[in-house]
Amino acid sequence: EPQWVLMATGRSPTNIAVIKYWGKRDEALILPVNDSISVTLDPDHLSATTTVAASPAFPSDRMWLNGKEIELTGGRFQSCLREIRKRARDVEDKKKGIKIKKEDWEKLHVHIASYNNFPTAAGLASSAAGFACLVFTLGKLMNVNEDYGELSSIARQGSGSACRSIYGGFVKWCMGKNDNGSDSMAVQVVDESHWDELVIIIAVVSSKQKETSSTSGMRDSVETSPLLQYRAQTVVPGRILKMEEAIKNRDFESFARLTCADSNQFHAVCLDTSPPIFYMNDTSHRIISLVEKWNHAEGTPQVAYTFDAGPNAVLIARNRKTATLLLQRLLYCFPPQDNDLDSYMLGDKSILSD
Ligand code: PMV
Repeated sequence: EPQWVLMATGRSPTNIAVIKYWGKRDEALILPVNDSISVTLDPDHLSATTTVAASPAFPSDRMWLNGKEIELTGGRFQSCLREIRKRARDVEDKKKGIKIKKEDWEKLHVHIASYNNFPTAAGLASSAAGFACLVFTLGKLMNVNEDYGELSSIARQGSGSACRSIYGGFVKWCMGKNDNGSDSMAVQVVDESHWDELVIIIAVVSSKQKETSSTSGMRDSVETSPLLQYRAQTVVPGRILKMEEAIKNRDFESFARLTCADSNQFHAVCLDTSPPIFYMNDTSHRIISLVEKWNHAEGTPQVAYTFDAGPNAVLIARNRKTATLLLQRLLYCFPPQDNDLDSYMLGDKSILSD
């Protein structure tokens, strides 16, 4: 049999939710209890790059993450691979003399190598970038013809939040109504050029791997938190509409208020879970205080904060000038020594109005 290798490479950035996804109504298909909205980051900073290769010489499917081989036995990888294989089409590479019929893809094995350009263990939503990139790149290799909505619905089965990384800009994951998940997919709200004065700063508070995975945390919250039900049914639907409006109008004040409130409610749900889940730590809380005091002193929000399933802060500044001030303040206040936040905020007002 002739030996050849066919390859494809892709890159996907991670995304940060401003209206959070927390809780599944179907664990196997990864169907959420509410819609969510996120912002996709710039691919130069936090992204996954994946190369997939197929060859008749490969006896099995294998995967390497940051150069280390990982087990592909997990159901989530298998779901993504299966769904893309099902949709594979004929591929012809005349230069290399390769001709693959669509039915051949069932027997052809793949090797997958994926790299993150940021620390995987830092709790920075690496699975979102990883699964989005895997699905996108496999789709390219196997010449699938599905649109981005359908690809997002496949990426969702790898990691829920991954469905939102298929698009740039601001993205909404519509929870969908169907039991089979066919309408649970991402749509773009606005593209990356729409609100490009925003600056996102990620303050790494701890690079330790999180203690409670999002999968087990969500399961416990769904089973035990009465606040989660209230949030999903009564609070989030209204917030989604307001957030879409705020984004379309580039209304930073509404955007920041909704983002902070939603992060805080997500962490309140974690606290309302039995046993309670603590993702934020004292440093996270100090960062919240810093931003809240600053926003209060200005009278109108300058910075929004949001925290995922870990203590790291994602800070969104309204423009570059605010981002510069924010960095100065973070560097002044952290690590906390004698530089007390209150004395900083009250002491040198000149920096406030800089
Ligand atoms: O997709 P997962 O299982 O990594 O869950 C992500 C959960 C949060 O990051 C906390 C919220 C979100 O919407 O991304």
